[in-house]
Amino acid sequence: MKENKFIDLRSDTLTLPTQDMREVIYTAKVGDQAYDEDETTIELEEYCANYFGKEAALFTCSGTMSDQVAIRSWTHSGDEVIIDKSYHINYFQAGPSTDLGNILLNTCDTKDGILTVEHIEKAIQSRKRGNLFGNPKLISLENTINGFGGSIFPIEKLKEVFSYSKDKGIPVHMDGERFLNACIATGIPVKEYASYSDSISTSFSKGLGAPFGSIIMGNKKFIEKARRYRRWYGGSLHQSGFMASAALYAIKNNVQRLQVDHDNAKLLESLLKKETNISLNLYPAETNMVMIDTNNLNVTSEEFVRLCKEKGVLVYPWAPYIVRAVTNMNVTAEDIKVAASKILGICIELIN
Ligand SMILES: Cc1ncc(COP(=O)(O)O)c(C=O)c1O
Repeated sequence: MKENKFIDLRSDTLTLPTQDMREVIYTAKVGDQAYDEDETTIELEEYCANYFGKEAALFTCSGTMSDQVAIRSWTHSGDEVIIDKSYHINYFQAGPSTDLGNILLNTCDTKDGILTVEHIEKAIQSRKRGNLFGNPKLISLENTINGFGGSIFPIEKLKEVFSYSKDKGIPVHMDGERFLNACIATGIPVKEYASYSDSISTSFSKGLGAPFGSIIMGNKKFIEKARRYRRWYGGSLHQSGFMASAALYAIKNNVQRLQVDHDNAKLLESLLKKETNISLNLYPAETNMVMIDTNNLNVTSEEFVRLCKEKGVLVYPWAPYIVRAVTNMNVTAEDIKVAASKILGICIELIN
């Protein structure tokens, strides 16, 4: 760590492009994407469709745009989307989902963000159905689950939901902005894991280190619809190859490095747990996040974040008593050791 530099664990979106990535952006072959003439964007979309085992792919500006375009493409005004209340599409995107999507979010309250067939069935049964009523037209899942500390949606549960969704004729959208973290952590091949959803998004600007961009994948018919709504939402960029080149670089070079972030999150978790005098309530670090429950410390997350900042560590107040730390490309194992000792120092002061 350089002197006076903060150790920034607020998010994995804060990473800056490396020199290699900047050069790729600078020299990218571009054309006008609105005329289907941007070769780099086309190459990225083909690469990702093949990588995830889907028929087609569409590059978007952000994860939010991928989710909103997916919702719009699967539903009509007044339809219901079944979702866990912790998911990004509800927790952060309730405004766009209801305003742009014109849908009703039928939220389930699970203990861990893992939406099961039972939860979905209960949500469907929670009201009368028919012409007078809203009807469920999309099941939206998340993997990894941000609101539960980057936890993994288990493939067995996913298979059950997917098979149930086929019986019901309701498509499944996977908000997979950190889906590749789940693949790296479990060792499940990307194509296999992705086969249990009808559409899936992935971010290039989180652990993969690109400055922007996300992609949605699905069958050709879905992607054609999505292309229309991407344009409606202002996401049809012209020389998008500059952005696509960074994304292509990220997915070709940075997927395996997610393991480093996972190792660092485990290191942080184990160092925070090592102090036997304080029992810190942590969510298990399954991928690149550690979440600290500040209830035991009798302090709000905002106050805890302020104390950490005073000591040179930046973390994020996720909920009133939950603080999130995300490992990312900018932090090393050495930084994690320093951060852990500072955080523990604060905890000891708080409980004494
Ligand atoms: C699960 C999930 N979906 C969607 C988003 C939104 O992505 P963006 O910030 O690129 O709009 C995020 C952001 O962290 C996320 O964690």
